[in-house]
Amino acid sequence: MALHDRWVQERKHEHYYKLAKKLDYRSRAAFKLMQIDDRFKIFREGDSVVDLGASPGGWLQVAKERVGDRGKVVGVDLRHIRPLEGVTTIIGDITEDRTMRELLDVFGGKADVVLSDMAPNIGGSYSTDHARSVDLCMYAVDVCDRILKKGGKMVVKVFMGDMMDSLVKELESRFKTVKIHSPAASRETSSEMYIVSKGFLTSKKVELKDITEEEKRPELTSKGGNI
Ligand SMILES: C[S@@+](CC[C@H](N)C(=O)[O-])C[C@H]1O[C@@H](n2cnc3c(N)ncnc32)[C@H](O)[C@@H]1O
Repeated sequence: MALHDRWVQERKHEHYYKLAKKLDYRSRAAFKLMQIDDRFKIFREGDSVVDLGASPGGWLQVAKERVGDRGKVVGVDLRHIRPLEGVTTIIGDITEDRTMRELLDVFGGKADVVLSDMAPNIGGSYSTDHARSVDLCMYAVDVCDRILKKGGKMVVKVFMGDMMDSLVKELESRFKTVKIHSPAASRETSSEMYIVSKGFLTSKKVELKDITEEEKRPELTSKGGNI
């Protein structure tokens, strides 16, 4: 990375870090969701929201503020989430059926919005990190198929790479509009992008089985097709 890019990145990092501290948000990521909502109008008062990969809780704070007291917000993460007033949290791995089942039980209805800021543990090669990130996105899609209302919205984070096109195609088959966006609060040089999808059509030809049964989630290949 060029010296100038690094300098810009560090200043930006520091700016949002200080702002989060000052305004009492649990993460810098909170500003990304605010910027996404300001631009794409994700939340309405009274909405029901599922937030995947929610710890430490910055997105939960923003979602709760924007849907208000009549809204419902449920967060899921592998890690502990410090209690937050008016928000329900589930500790578990969304790739495991028991977490999905708990989410469906706790949520007890349909959601207006599904959010996912889930990120894999970084450290593999760039393409491995990308593939893991896309895999997590497909679990978020699976949550949409089970829980999202017709007309609902989804915001999902992905690390860019060669499976991006097939992920976008998968989303386009389910939503009226799909846009790729990088909010200003994302680091300048970061490979992360957010996919904002609106107008959920239906759970794409998926006969949703009872999750106690063995099932097959759609998987993506780097060649762009389903396997
Ligand atoms: C970038 S952080 C999310 C930050 C959060 N949006 C905020 O504003 O505080 C990504 C989170 O995804 C979670 N995560 C990764 N894989 C997951 C999985 N399979 N199930 C649930 N959470 C997962 C990680 O534990 C991590 O806390």
